[in-house]
Amino acid sequence: MVAGFGYGRYKQSMVTAQESPESYGAISVSLENPTDTQAFAARLAPFAGPGDVIALAGDLGTGKTTFARGFINALSVAHGLPPEDVPSPTFTLVQEYRLPDFTLYHVDLYRIEAQSEIFELGLEDAFADGVSLVEWPDRLGSLLPESRLHLEFRQGGPGDDQDRRLVSLTALGDWQGRIQAGALND
Ligand SMILES: Nc1ncnc2c1ncn2[C@@H]1O[C@H](COP(=O)(O)OP(=O)(O)OP(=O)(O)O)[C@@H](O)[C@H]1O
Ligand SMILES: [Mg+2]
Repeated sequence: MVAGFGYGRYKQSMVTAQESPESYGAISVSLENPTDTQAFAARLAPFAGPGDVIALAGDLGTGKTTFARGFINALSVAHGLPPEDVPSPTFTLVQEYRLPDFTLYHVDLYRIEAQSEIFELGLEDAFADGVSLVEWPDRLGSLLPESRLHLEFRQGGPGDDQDRRLVSLTALGDWQGRIQAGALND
């Protein structure tokens, strides 16, 4: 067992890093069900501030939108606002949530086929002073900010549990050192 990261309610967690996401390159956390995924997102949410990008990578149905739901609701409630519905931005591509200190942008680039389509979305503003949750971040190509918290979702994990997801976190650029060991515990 490794000190401090991914324990508490994530008792089943497979932790592959030493103490923090960047000490090994990535750290993996096992999420047993959608509620667990939302709780995990809620623990990460307070670390984000204006200009931050969180890339949500992973295949169809691996829990990216579920994570975003937990994240957005945690910040809404923390600011005294009612919980949001958080529909998937599959068709709108970008959903905005205005909070007192910044705007949250929930972006889904699955349907983007050419980089030229990305320029129409106005993501520069989001990346500059919003907090951006970006599903299918690989669609950004060279426009993907280097400085980001990169999450990669996968189905499964130990055993044959359909609801289990494995998420790996990599802290890049400004995110390095920000998530302290133990911060995601109960
Ligand atoms: N541990 C889990 N975490 C998240 N979702 C889970 C989990 N277990 C089961 N699920 C289910 O998997 C589905 C995940 O859907 P979700 O929309 O979050 O995926 P997604 O990665 O955003 O997919 P897409 O690429 O289509 O946008 C939901 O139906 C959810 O209830
Ligand atoms: Mg989605």
